[in-house]
Amino acid sequence: MNLLSAKNLSHTFEYQLFSDVSLELNEGDTIAIIGMSGSGKSTLLHILSTLLKQDVGSVELFGEDIEKMSQKKLSEIKRHDLGLIFQSHYLFNGFSAYENLEVAEILSQNRIDDALIERLNIKEPMHQKVTQLSGGQQQRVSIARVLTKQPRIIFADEPTGNLDSETADEVMQLFFEYCESKKAAIILVTHDNALAHKCSKVYKLEDKKLHQIK
Ligand SMILES: Nc1ncnc2c1ncn2[C@@H]1O[C@H](COP(=O)(O)OP(=O)(O)O)[C@@H](O)[C@H]1O
Ligand SMILES: [Mg+2]
Repeated sequence: MNLLSAKNLSHTFEYQLFSDVSLELNEGDTIAIIGMSGSGKSTLLHILSTLLKQDVGSVELFGEDIEKMSQKKLSEIKRHDLGLIFQSHYLFNGFSAYENLEVAEILSQNRIDDALIERLNIKEPMHQKVTQLSGGQQQRVSIARVLTKQPRIIFADEPTGNLDSETADEVMQLFFEYCESKKAAIILVTHDNALAHKCSKVYKLEDKKLHQIK
């Protein structure tokens, strides 16, 4: 089943970042987007995840153009079906790591999975305030928070940027197992070529175009 279909996207800030970018995401897909710093990877991910409106082109989620959707439907989709793991982690700073997971638990009505916490190796700092955690710990809490929500599509911008390579591999494995078991999919932006090639498809944003290289 098709989860996301982007057609002929173009976007310009000070200069044109990209034009005529199209991308399809199906159940079980794991897609990596690589490219030089400043090429527009984060901007593209913001457009695909409904945070930013493209200048030209269209984005369909679950078969429906997001510009033609009612606000109510779009809110429902954002709340239940999209999981965002971005550089600014969007964790609630006044709360402990565990309380952040509880928010996801309440909003999604899914139980917090203790095995997930074990696997991400964040059991020990669970009751500390998120501001007291290291960058890598915060990153893993935001991954646990998004997986607790159980979205159909995960959008992740450098999700392993603060992790050592062994932990990064474990996180990638977790994403792949999640996508397979929940019929979900992930679009991941990374500057790490080796990590990208663990995904089923790899695209490179270069010279304002998105080229498939795997
Ligand atoms: N909200 C914005 N307003 C103006 N310029 C922006 C904005 N977001 C990104 N840019 C510019 O767009 C270019 C691409 O940024 P970005 O998408 O973050 O690239 P990447 O993630 O590939 O490093 C950069 O030159 C950046 O300064
Ligand atoms: Mg970026």
